[in-house]
Amino acid sequence: MAQARGGRVRGRDDGKRKPKGKSRVKPERKADSDGKKAPAAALIASSPSELVMFAVAAPGVEAVLAREVSSLAGVHAVKPVAGGVEFGGDAAVMMRANLWLRTATRVLVRVGSFEAREFSKMRHRAASLPWERFVDPSRPVTLSAAQSGSRLYHTGAIAENLQAALTDRLKGEVTIASDGQKVLVRGVADRWTVSVDSSGELLHRRGWRQEIAHAPIRETLAAALLLLCGWDPATALVDPMCGAGTLPLEACAMAMRIAPGLDRRFAFEAWPGHDGALWARLRDEAKAAQLPAPPAAIVGSDRSPAAVSAAQHNAARAGLAAHVELVHSELDDLAPPAGPGTVVMNPPYGRRLGDPRALRSLYGSIGRALRARFAGWRAALLVADMRLVEAVGVRVVADHPLSNGGLRVHLVELDLGRMKT
Ligand SMILES: C[S@@+](CC[C@H](N)C(=O)[O-])C[C@H]1O[C@@H](n2cnc3c(N)ncnc32)[C@H](O)[C@@H]1O
Repeated sequence: MAQARGGRVRGRDDGKRKPKGKSRVKPERKADSDGKKAPAAALIASSPSELVMFAVAAPGVEAVLAREVSSLAGVHAVKPVAGGVEFGGDAAVMMRANLWLRTATRVLVRVGSFEAREFSKMRHRAASLPWERFVDPSRPVTLSAAQSGSRLYHTGAIAENLQAALTDRLKGEVTIASDGQKVLVRGVADRWTVSVDSSGELLHRRGWRQEIAHAPIRETLAAALLLLCGWDPATALVDPMCGAGTLPLEACAMAMRIAPGLDRRFAFEAWPGHDGALWARLRDEAKAAQLPAPPAAIVGSDRSPAAVSAAQHNAARAGLAAHVELVHSELDDLAPPAGPGTVVMNPPYGRRLGDPRALRSLYGSIGRALRARFAGWRAALLVADMRLVEAVGVRVVADHPLSNGGLRVHLVELDLGRMKT
């Protein structure tokens, strides 16, 4: 993947640019296999008001994100694929996706697709797409290009040609900056799909988590853990190793039906066709849907006073300080609220603990605490090494493979038996 930065459009056929010969291997195909002339750029959506979208997800989160997408009003054609979820809908669906999806990384809108084996065709076909709906020519763009199996493979030149196409279409020089409107071009075997990012800053940035403790997880991963582990938001939730409070604060927002995107801005707000009145209405609806308090206790605790202090500051910034209990406690001393409920935690993985025996002992104490204090609760642990789960000594009933910042991890659900009555 390459990001094009700086520089003016050269306005020439970059098919002839270095590296030499990359677009001279074969002439541009004149016809498709059925003998028809190759199509020019195609809009992916069936009508101007219809958008085809792709919500990006971290590995392992696709199915749970598809459930979230399916619950958006007006959505259709929801399809989980590797790396995210495809779906269709109008501008309101695109706005709702940004406002409500808790596990998506970003929401892309497909602008169109076309075939091209020469840069001149790429520029021409990309210029026939309706960029004026998404790109304000007075604002910079950030171009990201990637391809596999295509004759045009020089990602810098691909990005330059997209920049030239935008300039052609919008009749004004489109400039490049690292924090501009993100435009993505992806090629697979000479078929190019261009998309715009409707989110802007990544969606895990809800706006409230400005203090972190050791090894924080992203808010989107925290939301995925809560959705995957089967927690019912009408019941209690405890994270006895809460660090900066990511899991309990995400849980509290879920339990109170607070839209994760309510307090932040999105890239689509700067699009020329943006419907500000519609956006204001959707935000008002989201505010009206909020509950005044979570239905059951949400508790986070940690042995580190600094972590608890960070969690409390984050809770205050999120406006949730009155609704989440954040306490300084050793796991062994924690007195959970009345159940039933769910205990979910992200214990240290061990890289910093160094000593494998200390780590096994920690996971053993987790098992003892779970059996002694949380009998009958749902329980889930995020772990990097399945061998440590053996040290917990509790039966695993489900294993969800995930990724935490590129590290392969597992959310394991544990069987703590039935609630004693
Ligand atoms: C990987 S971090 C959790 C990060 C957290 N999920 C977040 O997003 O900020 C693990 C946390 O477990 C805490 N911890 C380790 N051993 C503990 C124990 N015996 N009792 C309570 N907390 C413990 C550490 O202080 C650390 O904050």
